[in-house]
Amino acid sequence: MILVTGSGLLGSDVIRVLGKEHGVTGTFNRNPKQGAVRLDITDRGDTIRAIGELKPEYVIHTAALTNVDYCEDHPDEAAAINDMGTRNVADACRMAGARLIYVSTDFVFDGTKGMYREDDPVNPISAYAYSKLMGEYRVKELPGYAIARTSVVYGNARQNFVTWVRDSLVKKQSIKVVTDQYNSPTLSYDCAEAIAALIKNNAQGIYHTAGGERISRFDFAMKIARFYGLDASLIEPVTSDTLKQKAKRPADSSLDVSKIGRYHKMLNIMDGLKKMEEVRL
Ligand SMILES: NC(=O)c1ccc[n+]([C@@H]2O[C@H](COP(=O)([O-])OP(=O)(O)OC[C@H]3O[C@@H](n4cnc5c(N)ncnc54)[C@H](OP(=O)(O)O)[C@@H]3O)[C@@H](O)[C@H]2O)c1
Repeated sequence: MILVTGSGLLGSDVIRVLGKEHGVTGTFNRNPKQGAVRLDITDRGDTIRAIGELKPEYVIHTAALTNVDYCEDHPDEAAAINDMGTRNVADACRMAGARLIYVSTDFVFDGTKGMYREDDPVNPISAYAYSKLMGEYRVKELPGYAIARTSVVYGNARQNFVTWVRDSLVKKQSIKVVTDQYNSPTLSYDCAEAIAALIKNNAQGIYHTAGGERISRFDFAMKIARFYGLDASLIEPVTSDTLKQKAKRPADSSLDVSKIGRYHKMLNIMDGLKKMEEVRL
């Protein structure tokens, strides 16, 4: 069986996709999910006990503190979950003989280059990014580990950039979107399929499992408006300095996805939005 930590935006699709071919158990912490078991990865004893009892063949570790601005104000909490929590999961996997796939982020890069390859030098510029990178180091101590880095995830499980743009424009509310942050928006279902491909191919090491298109937030919002046939004139272009976001964002953290291409072709934005509607429950 496969254990999926976390059942949020990405975790819920990982559970769904892997569930087609494997026995899968998901976990939650504060927000109960049907069919999932409760696990707080900051509780080392419980984490080791749970993974030891379940004896999964694989653990897909999606659980994390993901609010980048909250992490900036609460770096100790970010470290407790994303760094030490990941250490607990990694140690539990070692003891139980489970293979671990850790979901990481494009934010491990500082954003000065863009189209990052898996072996490019990392340089996190926020507390969230730093804690996720520490998580990568914990996972790298395990034999046969894999790390799946993704970027600006969108899907149906909870509010995200796509649903925010769509719902705001449906309500005819104007929104401000930055023109100077570039990344590789990723459909959660597509990332889950890439993770399934990593398992199927027994892949090890780091893979960039992000959308196949580099784009600015503003242009992404324009595509979302076009896809849903909504009024794009409500989208106001702004620069990052006007938003006063708590945590620094990389200017261009887009990811080169050619390495995963041998196992799975990552979707571009229009195909990702189409698929998001197709897989909506
Ligand atoms: N979202 C993005 O744009 C993005 C971009 C790049 C990388 N990533 C990475 O992708 C992964 C999934 O992100 P996501 O957006 O799907 O996350 P999410 O929707 O915020 O869900 C996070 C999950 O982690 C669980 N969790 C939080 N603290 C926990 C703890 N102490 N113990 C156990 N579980 C805990 C939450 O459980 P409860 O809700 O039950 O508390 C929830 O199921 C993360 O590793 C993130 O760093 C995300």
